[in-house]
Amino acid sequence: MTMAEAARDPIRVRPEDAHEFVVALLEASGVDRKNAEIVARGLVQADLRGVESHGVNRIPSYLARVRNGVLDPRAEPTLTEVTPVVAQVDGHNGFGFPAAHLGMEKAISMARTFGIGMVSVKHSNHFGMSAWIVRQAVEAGMMSLVFTNSSPALPVWGGKTQLMGVSPIACGAPGGNNSKPFILDMAPSVAARGKIHKALRRGEKIPTDWALDSEGRPTDDPEQALKGVMLPMGGPKGSALAIMMDVFSGVLSGSAFAGGVTGPYDMSKPGDVGHFFVTIKPDLFLSLQEFRDRMDILYQRVVGSEKMHGVDRIYFPGEIEQLTEESRLKDGIPYVQEEIDVLNAEAERLGVAKMRVRR
Ligand SMILES: NC(=O)c1ccc[n+]([C@@H]2O[C@H](COP(=O)([O-])OP(=O)(O)OC[C@H]3O[C@@H](n4cnc5c(N)ncnc54)[C@H](O)[C@@H]3O)[C@@H](O)[C@H]2O)c1
Repeated sequence: MTMAEAARDPIRVRPEDAHEFVVALLEASGVDRKNAEIVARGLVQADLRGVESHGVNRIPSYLARVRNGVLDPRAEPTLTEVTPVVAQVDGHNGFGFPAAHLGMEKAISMARTFGIGMVSVKHSNHFGMSAWIVRQAVEAGMMSLVFTNSSPALPVWGGKTQLMGVSPIACGAPGGNNSKPFILDMAPSVAARGKIHKALRRGEKIPTDWALDSEGRPTDDPEQALKGVMLPMGGPKGSALAIMMDVFSGVLSGSAFAGGVTGPYDMSKPGDVGHFFVTIKPDLFLSLQEFRDRMDILYQRVVGSEKMHGVDRIYFPGEIEQLTEESRLKDGIPYVQEEIDVLNAEAERLGVAKMRVRR
């Protein structure tokens, strides 16, 4: 069976089995149970939401960082209160997920008391899909901004070498009584770099407007694209958004910035990633009921908008991912055999049971 055929006929894995598998790999690598659960929830949630570029398949590269001594699996993030509404987390070069989780947890509790909470996170690592952190806030009834910086992948507008990260901009708000939450989570490039890694894993081509090869030519070959540069969305605007992520997450936090973050696939040194979270209570200016009613109106106006030619349905930001999650919770998460083989090779190396699959 070719990779493309395998992708059409995927192997399904129950989310709880994927979760347990990831927890077992992490625990066998020195991560404590609590932090392993946080990492696993973030990765499995990405696969559930159809953001497979940032799901369980990231585990081999994360564990390679542990083996190479550039990510400390035992690190416990610490928190310092700066003002009643501002806190700082130091990730101490552990997994980015527990550092981000602790930061968002604190931002939520400050917003509950004071209406707003702001947290800067330093010396962290890649935290995967930003939407899981936005969800943490949404589930607590909060609005949020979730920013991070990342390793050089994009040229700045007018430049030709990688400088800024493909750093996602994410934000969210709880929905109304009859609407979905608003969850925006987007990379400032035409496509996230993880989608190129996914295409490479699956033996697929990529659209030619995603990246340039090392000679500066458009390419549909993921391998050549990874040697070149990602293209920012909207030219100078995408490049400016990537710089914005670096100002708020890198410059402000004390973490690496200006091209200094080390990528998750570069085993030479710690990531030193920075994040920035703001959490806002939605009933600061109106009652909660009014806020919810207004979100319902906004949702209905957006999805009920008159459709352009060829469009069957209009979605709210985050809605496609939510629908994917609903169906994958029922049917399981689809993986291709090659992906499962790579994950099982990690299990074998660590003496952990293979991933349980549904045929
Ligand atoms: N941690 C990191 O360093 C890092 C770096 C890059 C990307 N990422 C992650 O990669 C993921 C993918 O990013 P992306 O930019 O490729 O996402 P995307 O282009 O698939 O989606 C971007 C946003 O647009 C919305 N959207 C997409 N199609 C829509 C439609 N038809 N109607 C309405 N809304 C729609 C989505 O809900 C989402 O909020 C994100 O989860 C991001 O956090 C992480």
